[in-house]
Amino acid sequence: MTAGGDGFAAVAGGSALHIPVLGRPAIDFLKICDGGVYIDATFGAGGYSRAILAAADCQVIGIDRDQSAIAGGFDLVQQASGRLTLIEDRFSNLDAIARECGVDQVDGVVLDLGVSSMQLDRPERGFSFRHDGPLDMRMGSAGPSAADVVAKASERDLANIIFLLGEERHSRAVARAIVKARGLAPILTTAALADIVGRVVRSRPGDIHPATRTFQALRIFVNDELGELAGALAAAERILKAGGRLVAVSFHSLEDRIVKTFLTDRSETRGGSRHAPELKRPAPTFAVLTKRPVVADDAEVAGNPRARSAKLRAAERTDAPARSDESDLLPRLPALADVLKGR
Ligand SMILES: C[S@@+](CC[C@H](N)C(=O)[O-])C[C@H]1O[C@@H](n2cnc3c(N)ncnc32)[C@H](O)[C@@H]1O
Repeated sequence: MTAGGDGFAAVAGGSALHIPVLGRPAIDFLKICDGGVYIDATFGAGGYSRAILAAADCQVIGIDRDQSAIAGGFDLVQQASGRLTLIEDRFSNLDAIARECGVDQVDGVVLDLGVSSMQLDRPERGFSFRHDGPLDMRMGSAGPSAADVVAKASERDLANIIFLLGEERHSRAVARAIVKARGLAPILTTAALADIVGRVVRSRPGDIHPATRTFQALRIFVNDELGELAGALAAAERILKAGGRLVAVSFHSLEDRIVKTFLTDRSETRGGSRHAPELKRPAPTFAVLTKRPVVADDAEVAGNPRARSAKLRAAERTDAPARSDESDLLPRLPALADVLKGR
């Protein structure tokens, strides 16, 4: 089952390779033990699942919303002889998925967020401005694509999406350029969108590609990535047993902020401030294990540039009941369905 000595290696998905990021610390924080049940909520090319299965005689439930990731895991399921179950679904449902698998509590949940190299490197998936392809960007097979959003969203909604989810300073100019261009011809390909953005966002040599932030924003919006993350954290709180571990690896500040805010909220024992009366808080549901996020070392970044922005946070579930109150984790944006009405 092991790929490479400790279960980590570049794992193939068709022609592209996906190198798992921060795999070793993620597995260490999960504290994997014989008889344990672990949810790999972002199966991808199976790098984390492979390493969990190699670490002990345990069970893994692997989840991915991408049909091709689940299909690509078929061999690993065979090799795991009943210890790996793969489910095509969204990870915000991870507690319901575990229960459907007959599991009421789990020992660990790991989230390795974002897109896989297989998704990014396949032009037909439409995630990348580096390869021309249809402007799709959906991780799953259902729902509206990035081309639908670009075709229908109002200029104001586009600017907000690109500003809040891409942190693009020139979001208004980009939105204006998109609306002008789509009035002349539909924007259907990644190259067409990259070209439109490149004409209004200047970049100097050595800067990231001018379309990077706009593509990130549309991808996050189309897949409701931040809503999914907030849902997964709450679902993990419900399904982890006392002493169970939550590990999340994020790749940009919007994701990391959500993980950090959730864990701070759920681990705080005192409320109020010097200037306000002490609030009675519910008992903490997590104890944070990473005061500062764990980041990749130079050697990992040298071998895998994706690791440069990765941040790992981990926490241990307490025995306090899961909270039903939603933390205020998400940027204020209209729903996808409303944006498609053009408002
Ligand atoms: C960075 S890759 C994970 C790579 C994996 N750890 C490995 O070692 O191969 C992220 C994966 O999570 C999946 N994903 C992202 N958001 C998801 C969601 N809301 N529900 C289920 N899967 C999701 C993507 O489809 C992608 O395959």
